[in-house]
Formats: sequence, C-alpha cells, structure tokens
Amino acid sequence: YSSTTTPTIDYNTLIPENGNIPKSLLDKIGKNLHSSHNHPLNIIKKKIQYHFQSKLSNDQVDFQFFDDFHPRVSVKSNFDELLFPKDHVGRSPNDTYYFNKNQVLRTHTSAHQNDILRDGNRAFLVTGDVYRRDEIDAVHYPAFHQMEGLRVFSFPSDGDKKSHFDPSINFYENQEYKNNKEVKIVEEDLKRSLESMIRGVIGQDLQVRWVDAYFPFTSPSWEMEILFNGKWLEVLGCGVVHPEIMHNTGLGHDRAWAFGIGLERLAMILFDIPDIRLFWTEDSRFHDQFKGVDKSNPSEKGKKLQDIDIKNIKFQPYSKYPSCFKDISFWIGDDFHSNKFFEFVRECCGDLVENVELVDNFTNPKTNKTSQCYRIHYRSMERNLTNEEIDQIQFNLRDKIESSLDLKLR
Ligand code: PHE
Repeated sequence: YSSTTTPTIDYNTLIPENGNIPKSLLDKIGKNLHSSHNHPLNIIKKKIQYHFQSKLSNDQVDFQFFDDFHPRVSVKSNFDELLFPKDHVGRSPNDTYYFNKNQVLRTHTSAHQNDILRDGNRAFLVTGDVYRRDEIDAVHYPAFHQMEGLRVFSFPSDGDKKSHFDPSINFYENQEYKNNKEVKIVEEDLKRSLESMIRGVIGQDLQVRWVDAYFPFTSPSWEMEILFNGKWLEVLGCGVVHPEIMHNTGLGHDRAWAFGIGLERLAMILFDIPDIRLFWTEDSRFHDQFKGVDKSNPSEKGKKLQDIDIKNIKFQPYSKYPSCFKDISFWIGDDFHSNKFFEFVRECCGDLVENVELVDNFTNPKTNKTSQCYRIHYRSMERNLTNEEIDQIQFNLRDKIESSLDLKLR
C-alpha cells in the first residue's frame, strides 16, 4: 500500500451487490497453511515467532501470538480505522475482494491492529491468509500470507496528560513530529528489532537497507530491502503507528511501531521454492521435502518454541507433467534382489522412470515359488508422455529382463 496515486472516485458505487469473490478463492478460506505442521509457511512463521518470543528474557516484552482470526473482516477494520482515505486505490474492487459493501477478504493483517490494541495488548504478532486481486505470475497469487507485528512503548510523562493526537497536524509531513525524541526512539527500536529478526531468520551476514515509504496507518514509514543474489528485494513494510490510531484505541499518550511481512516471499528465498502456487499443492512430492524439519510436537501447543534449523533444506523441483504407470509381474528365483531389478529398470528405461513400487508379493504354498508385482511410474520433467511411447518402453523392458535377471515373467 505504498501507492500514493489518488484518483477521485467513489469506489462504493463500483462494488457489485453480491461481491466480487470467485468460488475458487472462497475454497481457500480455512486451509490455514500457516498453521499446518511442517508446511514451509508454518516453519517461517515459527522462526519469526521464536525470534520475538526470545525477547522476553532480555527485553521484558511478552509478545502475544494470534494465528486464527477469520479473513472476513469489515471495511472499517481493513481500511477506515487504518486511516485509508476514501479514494485510496486499495479500496477499489479491482484490487480488493468484497463480500458486500461492508465486508471484505482482508487485504492485510493490519486489519486486526485496532481491535487487538483496544483489547489491551501491547506487543503481538498476527499471522493470517490475506487476499488481493493482482497479476498472475510466479510470485503473485490472489491468496497469500502475512505476519503483522506491533509493539507499544510508554514514556514517562511530565504530568501533562494530553493525547499526542492533534487533528490540525498533518502527521505524514510534520517535521517536528518526525524529529520528536520519542518517535526517534521508537524508530530506532523498530529498525534494530527488524534487522535482528530478519538476520535471525535468513542469516547473520545478510545486507539490509531502509527505503522511505508511505502507509496511511504509520508515519514515518519504511520498507526494508535485503540483498539477495545480487538484487535488492523488498521484504516488509513498517513504521511508527499514526497518533490518531493510538488515540482511537485509548493509547494517545503512548507510541508504537508496527510491521507487516509477506511469508511466501521469505519462504521462496529460504527454500528455493520457484513458484508461489506450490504452497497450495497437496502433492506429497512437495510436502515430503519439509517433513521432520520442525522437530516440535504439534500437540504440545503453547510450549516455548525452539528455533528450527533450516540451513540445508532446499526444495528439489519436480515435474508438473502427469505420470502414468505400468505393472510388471514375475516369479523370482533365489538369487533375485529387488535392487538389481531397480537398477535394470533405470538402465533400460532411463530418467522417465520416477518411481518403482512393490504392489504385490505372493508365495504359492504348494510350489513355494514367489511372485512379485511392481508398478513403474513414468513421468517426464519436460513434456507429456504418450501411452504408445510408454508401451514401447515397457515392452522393451519385458523383452530384455528375463535373459538378464534371475526371474520369469508372468
Ligand atoms: N499492511 C502493510 C502492507 O500490507 C504493511 C505494514 C504493516 C506497513 C504495518 C506498516 C505497518 O503492505
């Protein structure tokens, strides 16, 4: 939301009565990938939570974690209370999914800031799925995940109990406000905390830089960029919470910082995941690669988090093309060993073979002979395979196998 273009348009008149949310997107609600044990987004979430939790001992702040707020929120929470101008382009139904005029799929986790502050929380992290209408490519998907962090600071007052908020001041521009001693202290803590968090998650030698930014709900505001593979990548937005929001939530005497970070971007960097759609796949070839990375027991919720070691976890791409399988059955002799068979299949059929599995093992009680059936899964990394092509390969395998291995085809 760093865009500053403000067309004068009443977006309300553009919202269709029954909203603009496609069914395919509604199906994403409730998947809660960020809460699914060993999902890469869950791993990233826990690494960030671990980082802020460990501040309890040295910094005396106890960050509360909120992970399961529903993504259907009011326009008031998502925009109004975050001081979005009425004509901010983020409100456009071209950018935002509306259920109706008053309710949206949250476009960011900031939608929960005001309510959580009103409930009296002074340091927290919110994780959730967020939704935006956007372009389609390897790094954009209409549903993604964010984590919001916020921390409130109190300063000893000199007896004068006036709220910092003054409607006559433009806090986006006012230099006196931006140079205020308290605001500067919060800014320094914010930058230090986020640099140490991102280095804790990605690596201690990471290069970081700060770029001035604009968000309606913070001032001053910044984006953090990190140097990755020779390119500066934007990873999060943040700033000092606008005094009007502090005032509206009963914290007019205090200051706070807030940040919002996209989890997919981080996970793609850390694990070499090439396509954002992979986060939604149910393919075990994806999920098996992250199994066991998180050693914690998912049933022991609320326990102190451990850091998760992800140093050597890199995603190995697999093919997007469909597979097809053929079975082969034979009687085996005493000399038969399955590894010999596997090697022979590799030799004979090459890399088109993705997987060979034993599907049946049967010993005839009378003859004491054993028969085995293997299923050979074929898949190309580059293209669709035709049935004729696979038949030919399988035929060739059958043709050669009896003379080479100690077995008799059935
Ligand atoms: N909500 C902002 C976004 O989605 C990020 C942000 C959060 C910026 C908190 C400042 C403070 O782009």
